[in-house]
Amino acid sequence: MRLLVTGGAGYIGSHTVLELLQAGHDVVVLDNLCNGSLEALRRIQAIAGRSLQFVQGDIRDRALLDRLFAQQQVDAVVHFAGLKAVGESVRQPLDYYACNVAGTLNLCQAMADAGVFQLVFSSSATVYGDPAQVPVDESCPVAEPTSPYGRSKLMVEHLLHDVQRADTRWSIAILRYFNPVGAHPSGLIGEDPLGVPNNLLPYLSQVAVGKLDCLQVHGNDYPTPDGTCIRDYIHVVDLAQGHVRSLQFISRHKGCSVWNLGAGKGYSVLQVISAFEQACGRSVHYIIGPRRPGDIAANWAEPSKAERELGWKAERSLASMMADTWRWQSKNPQGYR
Ligand code: NAD
Ligand code: UFG
Repeated sequence: MRLLVTGGAGYIGSHTVLELLQAGHDVVVLDNLCNGSLEALRRIQAIAGRSLQFVQGDIRDRALLDRLFAQQQVDAVVHFAGLKAVGESVRQPLDYYACNVAGTLNLCQAMADAGVFQLVFSSSATVYGDPAQVPVDESCPVAEPTSPYGRSKLMVEHLLHDVQRADTRWSIAILRYFNPVGAHPSGLIGEDPLGVPNNLLPYLSQVAVGKLDCLQVHGNDYPTPDGTCIRDYIHVVDLAQGHVRSLQFISRHKGCSVWNLGAGKGYSVLQVISAFEQACGRSVHYIIGPRRPGDIAANWAEPSKAERELGWKAERSLASMMADTWRWQSKNPQGYR
């Protein structure tokens, strides 16, 4: 297939573009580079031994999208482009709704006008809010998310269901990611956050490599076995392969379907720290701090729908997530810079 990948120069997008190239697809990446890297795209092409096309631009630029669809004979779109920092979304909600909601709306309108009706969308486990029970499956009610970021994902989910109901030519995969971590085992591509990271793994690995002094564990008084929060960490290469499978599915089935992409196992913050210390062979300085507003005690996926319908399940262990994160961080202490 010939694919347009929006946000393909970012963390999950870059790993997915690599898997798509390796699966034989042709890829055009559209990215405005606000949080992506051209170096990632260079390295992907080196690993795959194949080239891709890159267009620098914004999903909100309708004229650009129209030109792109007119020139490129795109069969399907894999849509990663968006803003993703939960705290920033509270301070700058308009940016999040403009980029994540209006940007996706613009993309769908351009797709419909160009006759492109296959779409894979990056949603998030955040749409479950604070679930009444874990693990969560796709039939669990979506709740009121705790941030504008989460609401932007839920709004887009509703938008996509409505669009597909109104025009059955659409074939849409909504993928709810749990906690993507890790890096490609080559150590050539990985997560490269701007500034001080918000998420656990990039923070932990920057402490281990000496860029940051100390990790703060956000609370140890949750109702979990060791008091720290439990999440479902999924290796980014497994996640990327889930996109390849979902594209195969939507090329054969019409409709708008939702799948959880998680490993189906929960680990606490302290378990992750300990696994990371094993992987890097050193101890990591951390302290216990207060709870972080908006965090929930536990969330992990019931991922069997994806296994049944897509033939996909996460294969990589917590140990390999940690080893691959460390390989990337230690080989690239300044990220792509
Ligand atoms: P990322 O920031 O690394 O990648 C996003 C990419 O989109 C970047 O390269 C950025 O430059 C580009 N981009 C942003 N706004 C754009 C715009 N308006 N036009 C064109 N390009 C634009 O993020 P990621 O971690 O790779 O996440 C990819 C997607 O997955 C996002 O939609 C995110 O919300 C979603 N998601 C991520 C996580 C996570 O923990 N990383 C969890 C759930 C869902
Ligand atoms: N944590 C710390 N210290 C840190 C960073 C994180 O203790 O410095 C803890 C958090 O409190 C949480 C766990 O590590 O208990 C994981 O936190 P992350 O920030 O890595 O991930 P979240 O589960 O908060 O959020 C992630 C994505 C969101 C997505 C959500 C879906 O970042 O985009 O999963 O559940 F919406």
